[in-house]
Amino acid sequence: LCVFFVFVASSGFGESSEADQQYRRHDFPPGFVFGAGTSAYQVEGAAKEDGRTPSIFDTFTHSGSSHGANGDVACDQYHKYKEDVQLMVEMGLEAYRFSISWSRLIPNGRGAINPKGLQYYNNLINELISHGIEPHVTLHHSDFPQAFEDEYGGWISRKMVLDFAEYADVCFREFGDRVRHWTTFNEANIFTITGYNYGALPPQRCSFPSEFINCQRGNSSTEPYLVAHNILLAHASAARIYRKKYQGKQKGYVGFNLIAFYLTPFTNMTEDITATQRANDFYHGWFADPLMYGEYPETMKKNVGSRLPSFNSLESRLIKGSADFLAFNFYFAAKVKDNPRSLQIHPRDYSADMAAELSMSLQNVTTELEYPITPWALQGMLEYFKQKYGNPPMYVHEIGQRMQRNSTLEDLSRVKCLQEYMGAVLSSIRNGTAVRGYFVWSFLDVFELLDGYRSSFGLYYVDLDDPNRKRYSKLSARWYTHFLKGDTASF
Ligand code: NOJ
Repeated sequence: LCVFFVFVASSGFGESSEADQQYRRHDFPPGFVFGAGTSAYQVEGAAKEDGRTPSIFDTFTHSGSSHGANGDVACDQYHKYKEDVQLMVEMGLEAYRFSISWSRLIPNGRGAINPKGLQYYNNLINELISHGIEPHVTLHHSDFPQAFEDEYGGWISRKMVLDFAEYADVCFREFGDRVRHWTTFNEANIFTITGYNYGALPPQRCSFPSEFINCQRGNSSTEPYLVAHNILLAHASAARIYRKKYQGKQKGYVGFNLIAFYLTPFTNMTEDITATQRANDFYHGWFADPLMYGEYPETMKKNVGSRLPSFNSLESRLIKGSADFLAFNFYFAAKVKDNPRSLQIHPRDYSADMAAELSMSLQNVTTELEYPITPWALQGMLEYFKQKYGNPPMYVHEIGQRMQRNSTLEDLSRVKCLQEYMGAVLSSIRNGTAVRGYFVWSFLDVFELLDGYRSSFGLYYVDLDDPNRKRYSKLSARWYTHFLKGDTASF
């Protein structure tokens, strides 16, 4: 979600040590998986069909946000899943990362399962499995039933913990005989920040309306912390259910996903160095520390004070060790500058609206649509997590290049991006990092959360003017196919 962060352009240093790109699929360790991903709201369509009820994303898009675009039809994967799986087969894709729409599976959020929703996910999973493609399933990808927002304010309320755990239980029970890789939350940190701090994405809560963002009702100095707390408890409750009821038989894994940045100090000054540690704690440690150590980072406790909820000892034990893997979506690096006045919102510095306790800003704004390609930063990020958290199993869940939609099928800069980041993953594996998989974002040109259909990340272009939503392979799809079938990564 580039709009909220500022980037550091690749300055030519630190190129991937696998820069010759002569490595091949078989150079990655046994068990390493290559995939591509989407999420339910962004790809399925059929928003009003077969019993699905509105989610917070339907509310958001139908209020005119997202440039008037919505996911009512999107790529229509709901009707075209077989065709999509066929494309995956042709590509040699080993795993497909997708999310379940809670609103489709359990339309009221809790209680009765929607038979048509159940059927759809069973069909999709069976289709994948029958072609040897592993489903990697996310339970919460920016989206939950609007009914919970209306009933008790969604993630603001502790009630959501129980409702989520019950939903997760249904998914494990119904699909867990075939799904072994579960992720409870996608980008829990960005969901919390964008949804409850500055309200750019649903449910659009904040407390400092600006001329740029149409956010509403909320208290951004307490709600993000509350929401994160409930999300962590919900994840841990779901993981506990999995371990107690299903793991013995199903032998799967339950992980957690964050957006991750490679953060380095803007200058060598002590203030910027400590601001970088603070930023790592607030963006990553906020979730990763409780998952790994059962506690929030000390800097957060100190700086947020009583507004940061605390875990009692039972909760702390429940959360610690509850993630079988950490998964990251990586898009860019950023430089961190100490900024004691960060409560002031500057139009070009979206990072500044993190609350005062973070007291930093991210430097080097670029307005470019395409992300700078910084393989050294992905490697740095992976090695940061390896060092900080004792080398847990990790997945790179999203790597991708944003480009203008409809620009070209010859998406050379996407090929370069995927290729160089793949090299960075290999280098970090060779340095001992426990990376288990690499997923391209996204399999198709999906509905983009912020941009609607103005930008795209897909390996396949989807013709939105065609009622059949025909797919066209891009250069990146062809390059990935060659690599997956045994060619070198070079191009
Ligand atoms: C992160 C999100 O998980 C995904 O939904 C989004 O489309 C991409 N990044 C690109 O912005």
